[in-house]
Amino acid sequence: MKDMEPVQLAEGPYREHRLCYYEGLCRTVLTLDKEVPYPDGKLIVSRTDTKGNITHGNQSFVDMSGFTREELIGQPHSILRHPDMPAAAFADLWATLQRGTTWQGYVKNLRKDGCYYWVFATAIPNIRNDQVIGYTSVRRKPSRTKINECTELYARMLAEEKKA
Ligand SMILES: Cc1cc2nc3c(=O)[nH]c(=O)nc-3n(C[C@H](O)[C@H](O)[C@H](O)COP(=O)(O)O)c2cc1C
Repeated sequence: MKDMEPVQLAEGPYREHRLCYYEGLCRTVLTLDKEVPYPDGKLIVSRTDTKGNITHGNQSFVDMSGFTREELIGQPHSILRHPDMPAAAFADLWATLQRGTTWQGYVKNLRKDGCYYWVFATAIPNIRNDQVIGYTSVRRKPSRTKINECTELYARMLAEEKKA
Protein backbone atom coordinates (compact mmCIF):
# COMPACT_ATOMS: atom_id res chain seq x y z
CA MET A 1 0.00 0.00 0.00
CA LYS A 2 1.21 3.48 -0.79
CA ASP A 3 1.93 5.59 2.30
CA MET A 4 -0.69 8.14 1.26
CA GLU A 5 -0.75 11.59 2.74
CA PRO A 6 -3.58 11.73 5.27
CA VAL A 7 -6.38 13.92 4.00
CA GLN A 8 -8.74 16.14 5.96
CA LEU A 9 -12.07 16.20 4.19
CA ALA A 10 -14.53 16.78 6.99
CA GLU A 11 -14.65 19.18 9.93
CA GLY A 12 -12.24 18.16 12.77
CA PRO A 13 -11.15 17.47 15.51
CA TYR A 14 -9.00 14.66 14.10
CA ARG A 15 -6.98 12.06 15.99
CA GLU A 16 -3.72 10.95 14.40
CA HIS A 17 -2.69 7.28 14.39
CA ARG A 18 0.27 5.40 13.02
CA LEU A 19 -1.06 2.10 11.65
CA CYS A 20 1.28 -0.74 10.84
CA TYR A 21 0.09 -3.63 8.73
CA TYR A 22 0.74 -7.31 8.48
CA GLU A 23 3.18 -6.86 5.59
CA GLY A 24 5.18 -4.44 7.76
CA LEU A 25 4.19 -1.22 6.01
CA CYS A 26 3.04 1.70 8.14
CA ARG A 27 0.97 4.78 7.37
CA THR A 28 -0.54 7.67 9.26
CA VAL A 29 -4.31 7.90 9.37
CA LEU A 30 -6.52 10.65 10.71
CA THR A 31 -9.79 9.69 12.33
CA LEU A 32 -12.85 11.62 13.28
CA ASP A 33 -15.26 10.40 15.94
CA LYS A 34 -18.12 10.66 13.47
CA GLU A 35 -20.23 7.74 12.25
CA VAL A 36 -21.74 7.56 8.78
CA PRO A 37 -24.76 5.28 9.23
CA TYR A 38 -24.97 2.21 7.03
CA PRO A 39 -27.50 2.98 4.28
CA ASP A 40 -30.81 1.10 4.53
CA GLY A 41 -31.47 -1.61 1.96
CA LYS A 42 -27.93 -1.68 0.52
CA LEU A 43 -25.36 -4.44 0.27
CA ILE A 44 -21.72 -3.40 0.22
CA VAL A 45 -19.76 -5.89 -1.86
CA SER A 46 -16.04 -6.21 -2.59
CA ARG A 47 -13.79 -8.92 -3.94
CA THR A 48 -10.09 -9.46 -3.35
CA ASP A 49 -7.34 -11.63 -4.75
CA THR A 50 -5.82 -14.28 -2.48
CA LYS A 51 -3.59 -11.66 -0.82
CA GLY A 52 -6.45 -9.31 0.08
CA ASN A 53 -5.90 -6.76 -2.68
CA ILE A 54 -9.18 -5.25 -3.87
CA THR A 55 -10.18 -6.44 -7.34
CA HIS A 56 -13.83 -5.35 -7.43
CA GLY A 57 -16.24 -3.16 -5.47
CA ASN A 58 -19.88 -2.33 -6.08
CA GLN A 59 -21.13 1.25 -6.09
CA SER A 60 -22.19 1.11 -2.40
CA PHE A 61 -18.65 0.02 -1.49
CA VAL A 62 -17.18 2.97 -3.35
CA ASP A 63 -19.77 5.41 -1.94
CA MET A 64 -19.37 4.36 1.70
CA SER A 65 -15.57 4.28 1.59
CA GLY A 66 -15.33 7.84 0.33
CA PHE A 67 -12.56 6.81 -2.06
CA THR A 68 -12.89 6.72 -5.83
CA ARG A 69 -12.99 3.34 -7.55
CA GLU A 70 -9.55 4.07 -9.03
CA GLU A 71 -8.13 4.70 -5.55
CA LEU A 72 -9.52 1.38 -4.27
CA ILE A 73 -8.82 -1.16 -7.01
CA GLY A 74 -5.44 -2.81 -6.54
CA GLN A 75 -5.03 -1.57 -2.96
CA PRO A 76 -4.90 -3.92 0.05
CA HIS A 77 -8.28 -4.11 1.79
CA SER A 78 -6.55 -2.73 4.88
CA ILE A 79 -6.91 0.69 3.20
CA LEU A 80 -10.23 0.70 5.13
CA ARG A 81 -8.75 -0.49 8.41
CA HIS A 82 -9.84 1.55 11.38
CA PRO A 83 -7.37 1.86 14.28
CA ASP A 84 -10.15 0.86 16.72
CA MET A 85 -10.26 -2.63 15.14
CA PRO A 86 -8.24 -5.26 17.03
CA ALA A 87 -5.75 -7.30 14.98
CA ALA A 88 -7.31 -10.50 16.38
CA ALA A 89 -10.52 -9.88 14.42
CA PHE A 90 -8.62 -9.93 11.13
CA ALA A 91 -6.42 -12.85 12.20
CA ASP A 92 -9.67 -14.77 12.75
CA LEU A 93 -11.02 -13.66 9.36
CA TRP A 94 -7.90 -14.83 7.52
CA ALA A 95 -7.62 -18.12 9.44
CA THR A 96 -11.29 -18.87 8.71
CA LEU A 97 -11.01 -18.05 5.02
CA GLN A 98 -7.80 -20.03 4.67
CA ARG A 99 -9.59 -23.08 6.08
CA GLY A 100 -12.00 -22.61 3.17
CA THR A 101 -14.90 -21.58 5.38
CA THR A 102 -17.20 -18.58 5.75
CA TRP A 103 -16.35 -15.79 8.20
CA GLN A 104 -18.96 -13.50 9.68
CA GLY A 105 -18.26 -10.55 11.88
CA TYR A 106 -18.73 -6.90 12.71
CA VAL A 107 -16.22 -4.45 11.32
CA LYS A 108 -15.66 -0.76 11.98
CA ASN A 109 -14.30 0.69 8.76
CA LEU A 110 -12.40 3.90 8.15
CA ARG A 111 -13.52 6.21 5.37
CA LYS A 112 -11.20 8.40 3.37
CA ASP A 113 -12.56 11.47 5.20
CA GLY A 114 -11.67 9.97 8.62
CA CYS A 115 -15.27 9.15 9.57
CA TYR A 116 -16.26 5.54 10.22
CA TYR A 117 -19.04 3.09 9.38
CA TRP A 118 -19.99 -0.25 10.90
CA VAL A 119 -20.85 -3.30 8.82
CA PHE A 120 -21.90 -6.88 9.41
CA ALA A 121 -19.68 -8.78 6.98
CA THR A 122 -19.90 -12.25 5.48
CA ALA A 123 -16.67 -13.23 3.72
CA ILE A 124 -16.25 -16.34 1.60
CA PRO A 125 -13.50 -17.93 -0.48
CA ASN A 126 -14.10 -17.89 -4.25
CA ILE A 127 -13.28 -21.33 -5.57
CA ARG A 128 -12.73 -22.24 -9.20
CA ASN A 129 -11.49 -25.68 -10.31
CA ASP A 130 -10.87 -26.60 -6.65
CA GLN A 131 -8.55 -23.62 -6.23
CA VAL A 132 -9.13 -20.55 -4.09
CA ILE A 133 -8.83 -17.66 -6.54
CA GLY A 134 -9.82 -14.88 -4.13
CA TYR A 135 -12.40 -13.78 -1.59
CA THR A 136 -15.72 -11.96 -1.56
CA SER A 137 -17.21 -9.96 1.29
CA VAL A 138 -20.86 -8.93 1.39
CA ARG A 139 -21.91 -6.49 4.10
CA ARG A 140 -25.30 -5.74 5.60
CA LYS A 141 -26.52 -3.14 8.02
CA PRO A 142 -25.62 -4.13 11.59
CA SER A 143 -28.04 -3.66 14.49
CA ARG A 144 -27.31 -0.82 16.91
CA THR A 145 -27.22 -3.36 19.77
CA LYS A 146 -24.43 -5.32 18.05
CA ILE A 147 -22.53 -2.13 17.22
CA ASN A 148 -22.62 -1.16 20.90
CA GLU A 149 -21.52 -4.64 22.01
CA CYS A 150 -18.65 -4.72 19.50
CA THR A 151 -17.53 -1.20 20.38
CA GLU A 152 -16.96 -2.38 23.96
CA LEU A 153 -15.56 -5.78 23.03
CA TYR A 154 -13.08 -4.40 20.48
CA ALA A 155 -11.92 -1.68 22.88
CA ARG A 156 -11.13 -4.40 25.46
CA MET A 157 -9.37 -6.56 22.85
CA LEU A 158 -7.35 -3.60 21.58
CA ALA A 159 -6.28 -2.66 25.11
CA GLU A 160 -5.07 -6.26 25.64
CA GLU A 161 -3.18 -6.16 22.33
CA LYS A 162 -1.52 -2.87 23.24
CA LYS A 163 -0.41 -4.34 26.60
CA ALA A 164 1.10 -7.42 24.95
C1 LIG B 1 -12.76 -10.30 1.24
C2 LIG B 1 -12.08 -9.47 2.30
C3 LIG B 1 -12.69 -8.32 2.77
C4 LIG B 1 -12.09 -7.54 3.75
N1 LIG B 1 -12.73 -6.42 4.18
C5 LIG B 1 -12.13 -5.62 5.08
C6 LIG B 1 -12.75 -4.41 5.49
O1 LIG B 1 -13.86 -4.06 5.06
N2 LIG B 1 -12.09 -3.64 6.39
C7 LIG B 1 -10.87 -3.98 6.91
O2 LIG B 1 -10.34 -3.23 7.71
N3 LIG B 1 -10.27 -5.13 6.54
C8 LIG B 1 -10.88 -5.95 5.65
N4 LIG B 1 -10.26 -7.12 5.27
C9 LIG B 1 -9.04 -7.54 5.99
C10 LIG B 1 -7.79 -6.88 5.44
O3 LIG B 1 -7.32 -7.65 4.35
C11 LIG B 1 -6.68 -6.82 6.52
O4 LIG B 1 -6.38 -8.09 7.01
C12 LIG B 1 -7.09 -5.92 7.72
O5 LIG B 1 -7.50 -4.66 7.29
C13 LIG B 1 -5.95 -5.75 8.73
O6 LIG B 1 -4.77 -5.36 8.14
P1 LIG B 1 -3.45 -6.26 8.26
O7 LIG B 1 -3.90 -7.70 8.04
O8 LIG B 1 -2.54 -5.77 7.20
O9 LIG B 1 -2.95 -6.03 9.63
C14 LIG B 1 -10.84 -7.92 4.29
C15 LIG B 1 -10.21 -9.07 3.80
C16 LIG B 1 -10.82 -9.85 2.82
C17 LIG B 1 -10.14 -11.10 2.34
